[in-house]
Amino acid sequence: MDWDFLKTARPSNRVTATFAGVLLAAACLMQSAGAADNRDFVFGVPIDPTEEWALFSGGRMYDKWWEALGTEEPKETHPAYPAAGKQKGATTWRCKECHGWDYKGAAGAYSSGGRFTGIKGVDKMSGTEPGKIAALLRAKPHGYTAKQIPDDALGRLALFISKGQHDANAYIDPATKKAKGNIERGRKLYQGVCAACHGFDGKLLNFGDDKKPEFVGTTAVENPWESLHKIRNGQPAAPMPAWRAFDIQNAVDVLTYSQTLPVK
Ligand code: HEC
Ligand code: HEC
Repeated sequence: MDWDFLKTARPSNRVTATFAGVLLAAACLMQSAGAADNRDFVFGVPIDPTEEWALFSGGRMYDKWWEALGTEEPKETHPAYPAAGKQKGATTWRCKECHGWDYKGAAGAYSSGGRFTGIKGVDKMSGTEPGKIAALLRAKPHGYTAKQIPDDALGRLALFISKGQHDANAYIDPATKKAKGNIERGRKLYQGVCAACHGFDGKLLNFGDDKKPEFVGTTAVENPWESLHKIRNGQPAAPMPAWRAFDIQNAVDVLTYSQTLPVK
């Protein structure tokens, strides 16, 4: 993957001639202990978990939960995925595929186009007791097994549905896709945080491929609902921070600035 550089601590940059040997040995030790690749953040559970952690852990499962959890990727199309739908295979098992990045299903951004399923959103379940939501995910039409999403993880996903959703229309104009934040504030936040991994122009990491590149700017313009979800919850299987502990306005401001970055 092209974000491998994040896994590599780079103390060698700081190594001076005098201490080179000692520091290099220390760096190698750190790396062999796996300290640098941060699997702990990506797949681990904190010793003293906070509700914010549980919520963004659940939020990452709303996407490719098998990547978020390191479980097996489904091969067949989900039995509840409508025959008329245009997707097939693993993606039809993602919550977002049937319920949308804006959580509004057929009443939101997936009301038409290649992602249309006609299925309702999950937004009406905000405030529902997580146990009820978890039960619904084990039953038909969902049928997620404990092998796919173990009980503790399912609990966090259910908590996300119950307490972790935002009202996308309050932050993104559904007609124009324009985010409603403060560009100048977003520029400061972006340059101080996001740029560390994505570069000042957002082009350092390519989520697409050479032919059809996809950068921070591309996603922000084409699918601002996905961007907002990911800024708040992080990205499955990636050491991407989650901004849940900050007021949502920060994420909205960053998104608003991201919409000014290059799309290709
Ligand atoms: C293949 C399509 C599909 C996928 C994928 C899917 N769902 Fe659903 N979901 C449905 C359908 C269809 C319903 C409506 C069932 C009904 O009304 O009887 C539903 C209903 C729900 C509801 C209840 C909404 C309400 O207001 O009654 C919740 C909550 C929910 N899904 C959560 C999830 C979560 C979380 C995931 C991911 C783990 C997920 N769903 C994945 C098809 C899907
Ligand atoms: C510590 C490094 C790091 C930081 C800081 C970071 N990201 Fe990321 N981000 C990643 C990685 C790694 C990925 C996954 C890249 C991939 O899958 O190719 C990612 C993925 C994304 C995606 C997913 C896009 C898609 O289409 O799948 C978006 C959007 C994004 N980042 C936006 C941001 C924004 C905005 C910020 C600042 C709030 C930010 N990131 C901060 C590392 C980071």
